[in-house]
Amino acid sequence: MYDRYNRKLNYLRISVTDRCNLRCVYCMPESGIKLMRHEDILSFEEIVAIVTEGANKNISKVRLTGGEPLVRKGLVNLVRMIATIKGITDLSLSTNGILLPQYANALKAAGLNRVNISLDTLSAVRYKKITRVGDIRQVFDGILAAKKAKLNPIKINCVVFKSSKEPDAQEVNAFCKKNDLQIRFIHQMNLQTGEFSVVEGGEGGDCKNCNRLRLTANGNIKPCLFNEMTFNVKKTGVDRAFYLAVMNKPKKGTKNKSGKFFSIGG
Ligand code: 5AD
Ligand code: SF4
Repeated sequence: MYDRYNRKLNYLRISVTDRCNLRCVYCMPESGIKLMRHEDILSFEEIVAIVTEGANKNISKVRLTGGEPLVRKGLVNLVRMIATIKGITDLSLSTNGILLPQYANALKAAGLNRVNISLDTLSAVRYKKITRVGDIRQVFDGILAAKKAKLNPIKINCVVFKSSKEPDAQEVNAFCKKNDLQIRFIHQMNLQTGEFSVVEGGEGGDCKNCNRLRLTANGNIKPCLFNEMTFNVKKTGVDRAFYLAVMNKPKKGTKNKSGKFFSIGG
C-alpha cells in the first residue's frame, strides 16, 4: 500500500491488549485507567483475518505490542497463527520481558522471529520507581531466556528522560554492548502535547520514511500515533478501514489528545 505521499506501508503494529503487569510512570497512571471492555477486544480469528487482508496488501512486517502483549491469554497461539500467514516475513514482539522466562521457548517454536525488551536502567531501585511494581531481576531473566531461545536480534528499548547521554541510559548501553544486544534510545514522548522525536538506533518518529499502520486491541486501524484518526474494522469492514487509514495518513505527526501509549502500543 502506498499513501498520498508515496510512502510504502508494509509494517503493521498490533496492540493485542491494553492491560499490563507494570505501571511505568511515562505510560500509565497508577490507577483509574479506563480499560477496554472485554467484548470490544478483537478475537485471534479477527486479528488473523485483518493480518491476512494486510498481507494481501503487501504488509510483510508485524509487531505485537500492548499494553504488555504476554498478558493476553494464549498469545503463543496467536503468534503461531500469524507466523503461517503467507507474506509475513518478519514477526516480532515488544515486551517488558517480565514473562519471557515463561514464554520465550514456546514463542520461538510458534514462529516468532525476535523481541524488543524494555529496560531503562540497571538499578533495581530506579527500575521499581519507573515501573512502580517491577522486579528488575525478572527482566534480566527474560533477556537471558530470549537469548537462549534465539529470538534474535534482541533489541533493548531504553526510554530516556532528556538524552541518551544520561547515566542510566549509558549504563544500559554498556550492558547491551557486553551482552550482544542492540539498543534503541526512545525519548520520553507526550502524545497530548505533541512532543515526539526520532528513536535513536531505530526507525520510529521519522515521518518522511514512516512505513507503519497500527491496529488497536479493539479494532481501530490508526494511520499515525501522533494523530487522533482511527478507522474501526468492525464498523467499516477490514478492507475499507485499511483504505481509509492509508488514504488519510498524515504527512507528519502532530498531537493526539485522546490517545494513550498503553492502548496504542507506542
Ligand atoms: N514516551 C516514549 N515511549 C513510550 N513508551 C511508552 N510510553 C512512552 C512515552 N511516554 C514505549 C517505550 C516502552 C514501550 C513499551 O512503550 O518504548 O519501552
Ligand atoms: Fe507496561 Fe510498557 Fe506501559 Fe511500562 S511502558 S506500563 S511495561 S506497556
